Amino acid sequence: MAEWETIQGWLAEAERVVVLTGAGISAESGVPTFRGAGGLWRQHRPEDLATPEAFARGPRLVWEWYDWRRARVAKAEPNPGHLALAQLERRVPDFTLITQNVDGLHQRAGSQRVLKLHGDIWTLHCLGCGLEETNHDVPLREIPPRCSCGGLFRPGVIWFGEALPADVLRHAMEAAAHAQVFLVVGTSAVVQPAASLPLLAQQNGAKLVEINLEETPLSAQADASFWGKAGELLPRLLEAAVKP
Ligand code: APR
Repeated sequence: MAEWETIQGWLAEAERVVVLTGAGISAESGVPTFRGAGGLWRQHRPEDLATPEAFARGPRLVWEWYDWRRARVAKAEPNPGHLALAQLERRVPDFTLITQNVDGLHQRAGSQRVLKLHGDIWTLHCLGCGLEETNHDVPLREIPPRCSCGGLFRPGVIWFGEALPADVLRHAMEAAAHAQVFLVVGTSAVVQPAASLPLLAQQNGAKLVEINLEETPLSAQADASFWGKAGELLPRLLEAAVKP
């Protein structure tokens, strides 16, 4: 297991760095994670609501959940973990940030190139005419929201059982396959295909570094795992790489 200074060296020298983030990087911004404590919403589990079947069965209930999540995210601010990654992007020649999060906090922190694997909570998608619309209303003006064409809007996020956007996934896999350092932050690494990206990178020669509060299925494979809060560890880990 490589030491802290060794990792800092890898990050300071690497030309190609890829980062995969999950809900854990937004936890310190006050956005609840899915599988940790407090990850529940009322008596429902995300697995019960974030599905096409749940939406078909009851669009109102699903939209009430997303309206609640949008309100939580709207009150959240990017934390030092998001900000450190935005700084790293400016220092590394070839940097790719891949996120499973739909909260938009990376973009608000200043990250430019963000591959949104699971979509965006601020995007609405019309089931009638296919319109994709950015909407920041908190609360939503009507639940469920409707398009000007009269069609029903659904949240612009990827649900369990749905395919990820093919172009985004292709870019993510290409970046992972060419990474020299792959940093995986705040994900339980149990949802595919995101959870395969770190291993794809390592199989192609990347150093795999994990930041989490606890062990994940990736920990045994990682070249280094650091246990702690992303908002505290990332700024320290990256300080060598982002110093002017
Ligand atoms: N710093 C670092 N890691 C943290 C922190 C923190 N402050 N807080 C929590 N974590 C870790 C937890 O230990 C856990 O491993 O973040 C991870 C959060 O895991 P999940 O809640 O499963 O979130 P994620 O991995 O992003 O879920 C993947 O599943 O529900 C679907 O589409 C949804 O994108 C989501 C996907």
